[in-house]
Amino acid sequence: MTLALIVLAAGKGTRMNSDLPKVLHPIAGAPMLVHALRAGAALEPERICVVTGHGAGAVEAAALEHDPDIKAARQDTQLGTAHAVAQARAVLEGHDGDAIVLYGDTPFIQPETLKRMIEARSSADLVALGFDAADPGRYGRLVMDGEALERIVEFKDATEEERAITFCNSGVIAADCDTLFDLIDAVGNDNAAGEYYLTDIIGVARARGLRATAIACDEAETLGVNSRAELAAAEALFQARARAAAFEDGVTFYAPGSVFFSFDTVLGRDALIEQNVVFGPGVTVESGAHIRAFSHLEGCHVARGAIVGPYARLRPGAELAEDVRVGNFVEIKNASLDAGAKVNHLSYVGDADLGAGCNVGAGSVTCNYDGVRKHRTQIGAGAFIGSGTMLIAPVTVGEDAMTGSGSVITQDVPDGALALARARQITKPGLARRLMAMFRSSKETNHEEAI
Ligand code: UD1
Ligand code: MG
Repeated sequence: MTLALIVLAAGKGTRMNSDLPKVLHPIAGAPMLVHALRAGAALEPERICVVTGHGAGAVEAAALEHDPDIKAARQDTQLGTAHAVAQARAVLEGHDGDAIVLYGDTPFIQPETLKRMIEARSSADLVALGFDAADPGRYGRLVMDGEALERIVEFKDATEEERAITFCNSGVIAADCDTLFDLIDAVGNDNAAGEYYLTDIIGVARARGLRATAIACDEAETLGVNSRAELAAAEALFQARARAAAFEDGVTFYAPGSVFFSFDTVLGRDALIEQNVVFGPGVTVESGAHIRAFSHLEGCHVARGAIVGPYARLRPGAELAEDVRVGNFVEIKNASLDAGAKVNHLSYVGDADLGAGCNVGAGSVTCNYDGVRKHRTQIGAGAFIGSGTMLIAPVTVGEDAMTGSGSVITQDVPDGALALARARQITKPGLARRLMAMFRSSKETNHEEAI
């Protein structure tokens, strides 16, 4: 069965008190909206429509950056959730199959839950997603009659008896796409909020003899974000889940609470992650790799057996092969390090290719930027870069070549050659002591002036 995804993201999010549209506030390094889109993507939808309004330009740009096939539908004035869904009609014209409605500010819905909703569609025309609320507050209430969902009543419009119901509406709904739009046409706004409620389609459907039901999920999945405090709580929840999942995957942590994940962090079995490690987006750490304390990684790949840190920084495009060593205060960016390469202390390696088993000495720098363009450095397998070498890119150091410590390398170094590019040393016997004596005596003479 083909599926369309409708993600509502037009709301203002007043309580965020922000210039950034609410759905673009990040959780674990990705906008909330992207979390919702990723959950929906697990159903392999044929079409995706994001309904935008407040900050539409920015929201659409973020959606397209995530997936260029996403279509946007504008809702210029926010007249309610049914009105929002109605805006998707033109984009989904001709779609033959189901539609599922998600909210852009509800980032934790699990793909498995959405799959259960699709399964439930085999016995009902509409499927709503509910949850047993610890504190039902102002959520819409699901009025059930056995398996059948009778209607959804918004808190503002509910009777005391209905408010006592704890089975609440998450907002997620699944139905045949044409049916969904037909039902929405019949929804009015004669209610306490004066809005077109999506929830009203249940009552309309029942009146037309259609079958509606609801399935339940964990309340945590339905957590929405309306304020900065809720955003922080959502971040904490995400991190707690990511840590729990990593334990299941066989990862060891010395202090799990001090390790921060991104939405897409991948850690292999038997990886060891020390204290205070931060994973930015796009990190894969393979089995058995060891990330030592206080390291910061983003957009990089660490192969098995590699040891990174403590205090290392891997930036986007860092590709570390098996058994590579990257030590303290080393930054690697857009560079590949072949098996067994070592950069152990205080170095910058950017826009470079390091051959297998090469060794980059302490304090070395690939000088990759001329102020306008970036240039590449190539270091051959088995090469030895002496401490404090400045490699002025573009430059190549051949296999098994060496550079003398403190060299400024501006020309290619052939395989097996030693390059020395530094001033020759001059030594003056006894001069240091004589100079110091001179300085001291001149200081004593000028004592009065100095005070
Ligand atoms: C909605 C549900 C309520 C449910 C609750 C769960 C309705 C009428 N009510 O209420 O039953 O318990 O969610 O959180 O559906 N949006 C638009 N355009 C609009 C209005 C809303 O895009 O015109 C978007 C919002 O940006 C948000 C989502 O739809 O992502 C839900 O809107 P919101 O105003 O938060 O609905 P609730 O009043 O919370
Ligand atoms: Mg809400």
